[in-house]
Amino acid sequence: MNAIILDSNNPDNIDLCAGVIKSGGLVAFATETVYGLGADALNENAVEKIFDVKGRPGDNPLIVHVASIDDIKPLVRSIPDSFEALSNKYMPGPLTLIMKKNSIIPGNVTAGLGTVAVRLPKHPAALAFIKACGCPVAAPSANPSGFPSPTKAIHVYNDIGGKIPYILDGGDCTFGLESTVLDITGDIPRILRPGFVTYNELKDMLGVVEIARGKEAGVPVSPGVKYRHYSPKTPFYAVTGPPDVTAKYIVEHMDNKTAAVMFDDYAFSNPCVLTFGSSKDYIAQASQLYDTLRRADYMGISKIYAQAPSEDGLGAAVANRMLKAAGDNIIRLD
Ligand code: TXA
Ligand code: MG
Repeated sequence: MNAIILDSNNPDNIDLCAGVIKSGGLVAFATETVYGLGADALNENAVEKIFDVKGRPGDNPLIVHVASIDDIKPLVRSIPDSFEALSNKYMPGPLTLIMKKNSIIPGNVTAGLGTVAVRLPKHPAALAFIKACGCPVAAPSANPSGFPSPTKAIHVYNDIGGKIPYILDGGDCTFGLESTVLDITGDIPRILRPGFVTYNELKDMLGVVEIARGKEAGVPVSPGVKYRHYSPKTPFYAVTGPPDVTAKYIVEHMDNKTAAVMFDDYAFSNPCVLTFGSSKDYIAQASQLYDTLRRADYMGISKIYAQAPSEDGLGAAVANRMLKAAGDNIIRLD
């Protein structure tokens, strides 16, 4: 198989891809965050194919995507009080809500958990596609497990194009980082993954919000947090601290086998320096991070350094992905 990239502006292409989902196949599609790898969320065999194509561990649950708020109700056992305000403001949008699951959802979608993650994306092509499918669509990011998420159709093609029939091309993802994941099953809402909807926004709306640490008493709160994530293939080092200090460190440690991912306003002239937005422009950083990590990987060098953003506002989401991509390779100059 070799995936065909289809323009999502053509309604025939939406119908073609929806037909594949209805018959139990997989299609990758654009959302405003990252490209997703979709299957009929009510078809256990179709969902299993997602895990195969991604090489995703079976204990890491998937997000179920819907085309309207009404489509959420049959998926969940109860609607928490906070749902109305959250859905009014952020649905459609880059917010995933964890709620108690209903029995129509197969166990592999939720990795056996009693909860389900639900998202109503904003990208018009994603909405048209899910609507045409006529079923909820389970979709993780459309990358092999552990690697940077795809923000362009060509990323999906390069990563898994040999394993799926179609990629529904909706252009470059405007946000470029995965949705905020918020657990609203308990008394206090908890952010399991930071994203475009920030802690401060949620706190303003809900009064009190917790940020889940990676592990609580040794148990990962969101199964996804315990695995390697977002990492380029080349050994990757994130450098944290004030941007002038991190830039100086990188300048001093560059050699001709090293690439650097730097803020526009701190970059220096060197063919192996790639920029991903200015130090204060978190929106630019979010939209460019994954593509920049991929481009650094293509340079055939043996090490990548990156300047980590500070963690205020949306910077928290960008820093979260970059530090996870680095794993243990974090150089702290704070
Ligand atoms: O923006 C996004 O969220 C993208 C697009 C395609 O919608 N999707 C995405 O999916 O990033 P994925 O599978 O790469 O990340 C889903 C995250 C994982 O960390 C997973 O562990 C967590 O959501 N998750 C899913 N269901 C959960 C549940 N029931 N409880 C806790 N965490 C859950
Ligand atoms: Mg992912």
